[in-house]
Amino acid sequence: MYAVTGATGKTGLVVAEELLKAGKEVIAIGRNEEKLAQLEAAGAEVHAGDLLDKDFAEKALKGAKAAYIMIPQNFSTSDYRAFQSQISGSLASAVMANDLTHVVTLSSVGAQMPEKGGIVQGLHDMEQMFNALAGVNVLHLRPGFFMENLFSMIPVIKNMNMLVSGIRPDLPVPMVATPDIGMLAARHLKMLDFSNKGHQYVLGARDYTYPEVAALLGRYIGKPDLPYVQVGPDQLIESFMQMGATRNIGEVYAQFTEAMNNGSVMDGVERNAGNTTPTLLDEFAVLFAEAYKLN
Ligand SMILES: NC(=O)c1ccc[n+]([C@@H]2O[C@H](COP(=O)([O-])OP(=O)(O)OC[C@H]3O[C@@H](n4cnc5c(N)ncnc54)[C@H](OP(=O)(O)O)[C@@H]3O)[C@@H](O)[C@H]2O)c1
Repeated sequence: MYAVTGATGKTGLVVAEELLKAGKEVIAIGRNEEKLAQLEAAGAEVHAGDLLDKDFAEKALKGAKAAYIMIPQNFSTSDYRAFQSQISGSLASAVMANDLTHVVTLSSVGAQMPEKGGIVQGLHDMEQMFNALAGVNVLHLRPGFFMENLFSMIPVIKNMNMLVSGIRPDLPVPMVATPDIGMLAARHLKMLDFSNKGHQYVLGARDYTYPEVAALLGRYIGKPDLPYVQVGPDQLIESFMQMGATRNIGEVYAQFTEAMNNGSVMDGVERNAGNTTPTLLDEFAVLFAEAYKLN
């Protein structure tokens, strides 16, 4: 039996569906019962609750031998790293209490950084915590930038006619479609082809600079001259707060952006056939254009 956390989210849903399709027994975990109903109808055992709650996590993982573990985002916390650590702690103790043998986690590029990682600092902590679990085989997937993040840019493109971020315009950024991450995680879980502790980068089909992203998305939405504008850390923090996030969230994003721009995040990471996934940004741009029309 497999437990899938974040089973109604972008990567978790693909993991749960792929395992069910392969005839595996699945425990699907999320918060919203209505969203989980779809997986229940497909044959999953579902558990709705908050992973911050250790007892809930332990009960939800009961009977599982392997799991897909992810830490959800939370824009309302004033200490993101502490939130991430609390979820990791709750899941790590649930894994041990239920004697799981295999775990695939959703980590990130940059999780190797012991400090100044911002938004991924808690994923560094999560990797360390799971690496310390005796007798559990753990594979950390470290994906690049989710293409789906670009959906949140739609209002800015509509209102300001520009693509905005804190990333340097000349920096190649690995961009990955989240279904590709889910497919990869499901494949590893089906085959249980990893042992001891390890990680695997998931870098998408290729890297893109932000001006390239602006030009490509612009072409699909009828704005072929869409410019890319880089903003500084203060403006980045301000824009997160305008979207309703806490200052801490703005600060951790700004710190991660700085680590991308100064090369620490991708330091030593090399693209190869094993960490390259199929979906190109051109394919995502079709979905982006549909969402752009509807918004
Ligand atoms: N964005 C990127 O570029 C990027 C890159 C690399 C790594 N990552 C990592 O990817 C992870 C997050 O992915 P995402 O936020 O985009 O996922 P997501 O698709 O928003 O999915 C979140 C899932 O978690 C569930 N959930 C949320 N809060 C929960 C809670 N407190 N307890 C139990 N379940 C909860 C949600 O269910 P409900 O809807 O029912 O709440 C949903 O199923 C983060 O760890 C992030 O650091 C992101």
